[in-house]
Amino acid sequence: MHYIRFLKPPRLLGGRRGNAPSVLKAKVTVTTDLGESFLWANVDLVVELTDGTGKRVLERGKGYTWKGSEGMRSLEVELLIPAFRVKESGGVLRMLVRLREDFLSVENFERILGDSDEHEGTGEMGGVMAVRSMAIDIPSNQSLPIPPSTSMAERTFRFGISEIHIWEETGESIARHIWDAGLLLSAYLASISDPSSKKALPQLPSLQQTLSQKDLAIIELGAGCGIVGITLSTLFRKQISQILLTDLPEASEILTQNLASLSSSSSSSSSNNPNPNPNSKKISHQVLDWSSPLPQNISETKWDMVVVADCTYNPDVVPDLVQTLVRLGAASAEMLVLLAMKVRHDSEMVFFELMVQGGFVVRDKCKMSLPVLGGQGEEIEVFVFAVG
Ligand SMILES: C[S@@+](CC[C@H](N)C(=O)[O-])C[C@H]1O[C@@H](n2cnc3c(N)ncnc32)[C@H](O)[C@@H]1O
Repeated sequence: MHYIRFLKPPRLLGGRRGNAPSVLKAKVTVTTDLGESFLWANVDLVVELTDGTGKRVLERGKGYTWKGSEGMRSLEVELLIPAFRVKESGGVLRMLVRLREDFLSVENFERILGDSDEHEGTGEMGGVMAVRSMAIDIPSNQSLPIPPSTSMAERTFRFGISEIHIWEETGESIARHIWDAGLLLSAYLASISDPSSKKALPQLPSLQQTLSQKDLAIIELGAGCGIVGITLSTLFRKQISQILLTDLPEASEILTQNLASLSSSSSSSSSNNPNPNPNSKKISHQVLDWSSPLPQNISETKWDMVVVADCTYNPDVVPDLVQTLVRLGAASAEMLVLLAMKVRHDSEMVFFELMVQGGFVVRDKCKMSLPVLGGQGEEIEVFVFAVG
């Protein structure tokens, strides 16, 4: 998967006099999840001005070509904005950058699970994730909400009538953003949440059995911006009574933002519904550092499932991660661990040795392919462990 990212978030320039148009300028790049490699295929990008919801397109800018084959690493984009748009906006204008090729532009969980149907998925080609900026800082507008201390950007995922909005950090810091394993796991969970889905997916019977039960208590470790937990809480709302997203203190701001965004969104895709999402009461976040003992409220809860996505890449912290899983399992003999990973190097295999030593057994596992545009496809592995 490739992700369009704002290296420099959009800034509004000019247009201070009379009806002179303003120019919105930003710098974007297109990279993999780690940000270690740039898209080297050539693709056409579209830059659009949207309202505050990010959904209604107000102005369409000129197109740009990302010249990956020429080694492009960043691209300055701009959008001319008529003065009346700035005046009418109330301070909430946003920039959307997406691929012109609709079927490769990812804003939909069904597109992520590549299949051969080009009308539904990105097929064997791989997709590029669209991005929306925060509300653009309009200097004269004093009524703007105080922006978060970190620059953020939003990804949107549709699934049936549900919409999931995930904010991630942007700019030079890319620590808390969406990772491929969490993304693919979320798309997989979305697909199995829909009994009418015709997608031929690998089966994980123990996971499906657990997710068919009621009153589930679920905890996520290393949740990052929370895509997997938020997807679970949105699409399995009848089954889940409590879901707790945990990470280091550095992730608290982005998790707060994403849970606030969840609670302000309606439970359906309609933006006219003034009622807060009732489901958001079941989801919360808390700091949980794997190198520390479990907080009392966590150690005293009988968890049905622990979710871990893309957290096994650093062998130095894996012993603490497994120790945390062992502590969680001590109170819950029926607990499952749902783990998704993109194997990046052999040293990650130590996780499996430690899980065996910790008394866990693999109940189910599968591999899912993740096509990569202009590059070699990758694989995401998903494991379901039980307490042995
Ligand atoms: C690659 S990110 C994955 C984020 C998310 N699960 C996803 O798939 O998008 C790994 C996450 O593990 C968290 N992490 C790393 N060491 C940790 C520790 N000792 N305790 C708790 N979380 C930790 C990081 O803060 C980061 O959010």
